[in-house]
Amino acid sequence: MEIKRIKLPGVKTIIGVLSGKGGTGKTFVASCLAATLAKLGKKTGILDANISCPDIFKIFGVTQKIVPTADRKIEPAEKYGIKIVSMAGLSSAEDEPIVWRGPIVSKIIQQLLKETLWGELDALIIDFPSGTSDAVLTILQNFAVDGVLIVTTPQELSTLDARRSINMALAMKIPILGIIENMRGEVFGEGGAARVAETMRIPLLGSIPLRKQITALCDAGMPPVFQMEELEMIFGKVARIAMEKIMV
Ligand SMILES: Nc1ncnc2c1ncn2[C@@H]1O[C@H](COP(=O)(O)OP(=O)(O)OP(=O)(O)O)[C@@H](O)[C@H]1O
Ligand SMILES: [Mg+2]
Repeated sequence: MEIKRIKLPGVKTIIGVLSGKGGTGKTFVASCLAATLAKLGKKTGILDANISCPDIFKIFGVTQKIVPTADRKIEPAEKYGIKIVSMAGLSSAEDEPIVWRGPIVSKIIQQLLKETLWGELDALIIDFPSGTSDAVLTILQNFAVDGVLIVTTPQELSTLDARRSINMALAMKIPILGIIENMRGEVFGEGGAARVAETMRIPLLGSIPLRKQITALCDAGMPPVFQMEELEMIFGKVARIAMEKIMV
């Protein structure tokens, strides 16, 4: 049976950032890709699909609140020319706990996707929560996601979960742009993503070291890709591949 997936009006391409394990750097990777595409002149948006712990506002240093319009639409926040929507902008305090059950969470993500006034976008990046939970499955099933990026740290406990995310995307017939290794170095090792790439026949797009500077820039609300040449190189390549393969 052919599944009809929802396309968002005006949004040309949707790119998802996935990982099996939590804390591998999805939000960091999503922010770097969005910032790179925007710098290349692409109209870019980012949806923080992490409803319970939304972090995108923090990484972009956005503090403004999102107030729904009279007809209950959402006007995205904007930073560096990127349109940004996150529950962080809709909750009252930055550290307020957001406690909703799974089915409600996927409804909220769908609502944020559909009710936001995205305008014309060349690319909308979705920063997913980790794992293969109901919320992730629902969005991938119902929306026309054109491609996904897989993020993993090098150790086996993370690459095993990355394989689960890859198999989920394959089962849903969603193109996989490739895998990014993050936090390479003494602590987590290296080469894990290369092994996944080889055995699962997907492209290895880059390997990013664990660096204090990255943590500090993310905490300071400055997308690290604007400040670090090695990230600029990696995400320049990721953006090029996305533009060639899935962006129309
Ligand atoms: N290469 C790196 N070097 C140093 N710190 C990093 C690196 N990548 C990410 N971080 C930091 O690690 C933490 C986790 O990153 P991030 O929030 O992007 O992970 P995540 O996969 O989105 O987590 P979650 O599963 O909770 O959504 C953040 O504090 C981030 O700044
Ligand atoms: Mg995150």
